[in-house]
Formats: sequence, C-alpha cells, structure tokens
Amino acid sequence: MQFRILTLGDLIGRSGRNVVREKLAPLVAGQSVDMVIANGENVSGGFGLTETNAKAILAAGIDVITSGNHIWNRPETADFIGRYPNILRPANYPDTLPGKGRFIFRHSEKGVKVGVLNLLGRVFMPPMESPFFKADAEISALREEGADLIVVDFHAEATAEKEALGLYLSDKVELVVGTHTHVQTSDEKIIAGRTGYITDLGRCGSFFSVLGFEAQQSIRGFLTDTQQRCDPGKEDLVLEGLLADFDVEERRCISLKRVRI
Ligand SMILES: [Fe+2]
Ligand SMILES: [Fe+2]
Repeated sequence: MQFRILTLGDLIGRSGRNVVREKLAPLVAGQSVDMVIANGENVSGGFGLTETNAKAILAAGIDVITSGNHIWNRPETADFIGRYPNILRPANYPDTLPGKGRFIFRHSEKGVKVGVLNLLGRVFMPPMESPFFKADAEISALREEGADLIVVDFHAEATAEKEALGLYLSDKVELVVGTHTHVQTSDEKIIAGRTGYITDLGRCGSFFSVLGFEAQQSIRGFLTDTQQRCDPGKEDLVLEGLLADFDVEERRCISLKRVRI
C-alpha cells in the first residue's frame, strides 16, 4: 500500500494561517494527500501558538502540528498543549515540561499508523539534551506503539547537524524533514533507498520577506544595529513543503517532491 504525506514549513503569523486556509485543501484533494504535518511554532503573531490559532490550522486540514524553539513564547501554550496529543513540542526539552514530543496518527481509512517525532537541534540553539540519543529512545517507543512509518521534524539551525541526524536515522525512520530556517533547500533525497530527507522545508507565509517577516524592519535593524519590531510579512504569500510517498509494507520512502505554491 502507498501512503502520501505532506509536510509544511513553519507557518508565519496570520499570513501562514491564511495561505494554509486557502491553498491546503485544494492541494490535498488534487494530490490525494493522506496526511498533513506542519510546523506551528510561529503561527501566532510570528512567535508561539495560541489555542485559537491551533484549532484554526487543525480545522484547515493539518493533522499533526510540530514546533520548535518558539513553542513557549505564548504562556497559554503550556496550559493547553497537554490536551492536544497531536500538537508536539520538541522531545528533547525536559520531561518536566508539558506536552509530548511524539505522537501516532492513525489514518482512518487506510489503517496506517504514522509516528511523528519532533526534535530540537543544539548547534546555535539553546542548550538541550542530545537530539541523537533522544531520537533513539523515542523511535523505539514509537515502534513499540505500532508505528508503520516514522516522520521526524528536526527543528535546527545548522545544516551539518541536520544532515548528520538525517544520515544517523537513515536505517531507523522513513522521513526526516528540517525546519526552523524558513528557507527551503533543494537537497531532498532518499538515503540508502529508504529514508526521505530535506534540510529545510521552507515557510508558509510571505515570500519576499526576511524569513517570513517584514523586510523593511529587518533591513533597518541591520543598518542601525538596533532591535526592531518583527512583524510577519503580509505580501506574496507562499506555501512551501514536501510531498513524500511511502511503501507501507516495505517501510520506505519511494518518492519526494518539493512544494512551493
Ligand atoms: Fe520558525
Ligand atoms: Fe525555530
């Protein structure tokens, strides 16, 4: 049996929510997508995720929300995240924090169980438990819980760390996607005939912007060496991500196609 998963790069503010609301459903229908995973750490005003906005993007067709270093920017997230098993925070945050870093999505018609794991990088990022060792433990748990396929969202800054984790996990999971840089890379590949990989999915939000945020504010910051406002860009909306096809019985990724709409 074949299974098709769409993974989307970080949704940036209202623009990210709008572009998903407008473009996701036609894409899912037109491409017969079975499951959608999206990074939601920048959904609310560009930083963090409110419950209202989380409900809105889930209603727009996203099955699992992953996140990253901005997931705690909104204090309310810690209060509601425990009630939504399909909203993940990186697994290598301390276990004492609310929420979980892994989830198994079950496709109702095909019966396929897809484990999703969210990890945070450590290079040019806050100090964190090793994503490599945490991945080993969480992947074992997902297999024990019956995952047919496993998708990892590795939210990290450094390309080297992302490629290293992708190769490290190439005999253990079926897809590793990078997020956090908000710039889509053209290096999608299937490692060792099994594991789909891309360094970064890109963004859902303003295209002619700085990482999805107002360009003029960013340029002013660089010209004046001062902290500037950082508002999500509003123009030239784009939806970026990756379509991945899997052979469920053989547990391997069989094709990848970058998406930019
Ligand atoms: Fe982000
Ligand atoms: Fe991030």
